[in-house]
Amino acid sequence: STGVGRLPDGALAVAGVDVRDLVAEHGTPAYVLDEADFRTRARAYRTAFEAAFGAVGAGVDVYYAGKALLTVAVARWAREEGLRVDTASSGELAVALRAEVPGAEIGLHGNNKSDAEILRALDAGVGRIIVDSLVEIERVARLAGERGVVAPVMVRVTTGVHAGGHEYIATAHEDQKFGLSVNAADGAESPAMAALLEVLEHPELRLLGIHSHIGSQILDPDGFEAAARVVLRLRVDLSERSGVLVDEVDLGGGYGIAYLPGDVALDPERVAKDIAQSVSGVCQELGTSLPRFSIEPGRAIVGPAGLTLYTVGTVKPVTVSADGGADFTRTYVSVDGGMSDNIRPALYGAAYHAEIVGRSSSAETVLARVVGKHCESGDIVVHEVQLPADVRAGDLLAVAATGAYGRSMASNYNMLPRPPVLAVADGASRVLVRRETEDDLLGLDQG
Ligand code: LLP
Repeated sequence: STGVGRLPDGALAVAGVDVRDLVAEHGTPAYVLDEADFRTRARAYRTAFEAAFGAVGAGVDVYYAGKALLTVAVARWAREEGLRVDTASSGELAVALRAEVPGAEIGLHGNNKSDAEILRALDAGVGRIIVDSLVEIERVARLAGERGVVAPVMVRVTTGVHAGGHEYIATAHEDQKFGLSVNAADGAESPAMAALLEVLEHPELRLLGIHSHIGSQILDPDGFEAAARVVLRLRVDLSERSGVLVDEVDLGGGYGIAYLPGDVALDPERVAKDIAQSVSGVCQELGTSLPRFSIEPGRAIVGPAGLTLYTVGTVKPVTVSADGGADFTRTYVSVDGGMSDNIRPALYGAAYHAEIVGRSSSAETVLARVVGKHCESGDIVVHEVQLPADVRAGDLLAVAATGAYGRSMASNYNMLPRPPVLAVADGASRVLVRRETEDDLLGLDQG
């Protein structure tokens, strides 16, 4: 009763729960999370990194990146599997605290944290605030001073390494909002070094280490290794400048997953070994000791654990005239959600896989496009997928691997209530986040 499988009559079951039963009870659209799958992936990342880094003599902490999907239960699962929780706002911090994740096991990110967010983090005793600019360093120091505490901070640096997909690129000067560059204008000190030295000037701040996040949905570990090399070199440079050899290096998140049948995800054991061996070699080259490491996977833990259930409505064949080719027919299959519950296809051109899951079909397949119910043509759920030719109104349709950045980036476009998050485990389901109602939405409108 774990995982996803087909029942004898062709319907899909997740963790032993028939999706038709889920839909009868909770309706569609709905996000379904396989608790055991989430836990297995969380544990796999932790144990793979502990083993690989342990083998070269380094400690490692795994933070679950809550931005991918954070609910109170999800935060608890992460903690029970030995992960810490990375947050990127006061709201995410509130969820982690509600789940009774100890402050010391929480990190706070953000390129524009408010005073209120920083104070909340300090009051919760968070284990680390990742600072992102010189002004923020001043701000955290001032607020820590007001509270009479010493704030543990990491400095987020940009190494020029960007990854995502199959390749990585390295640029000298970055044109984006995050972090402080390790690259300096001619003769000047790099913004990263300046920030690290600035932190050391403040008695209200304790410098834990250096943080680097290079991208998301990364399938080639080379980018992690290239960035780690830059950060480890910076750590040595800082030690030469200041006499302080920082304890910790965070390599961020970004571990890629499979979205389509046939996609190959990053294997945590393989990538952990590659990175561990690489950083060990770099530290030897630099003649320095290994720091403690941390990583922040989000998507790789929760992405594959989630799917979205929809009900099919209008099915419409559309004849498409292809440039220079023969006309062809695409079957537009409309579902009862869309870009409000999964913005990724519209925002990034992200590809997903869909199947009819309430029954079996022996019909031929047709080229289909799954679209939502929103009032714009970019409202696409799955650009291209083969579906049975007898797909019809009332069919249940599931889209796979929607656990990460689906619910967390959902909106109320066209006043659609956001779908519930349902957890399934051992043949039973429960509601983690209930469906929004029209009253929830109208309740915000003051007339
Ligand atoms: N740590 C930091 C500092 C991050 O900025 C992120 C993601 C992560 C960890 C987790 O990355 P992951 O392991 O999930 O790739 N909305 C986009 C992804 C944005 C990621 C932003 N930062 C998407 O849906 O593809």
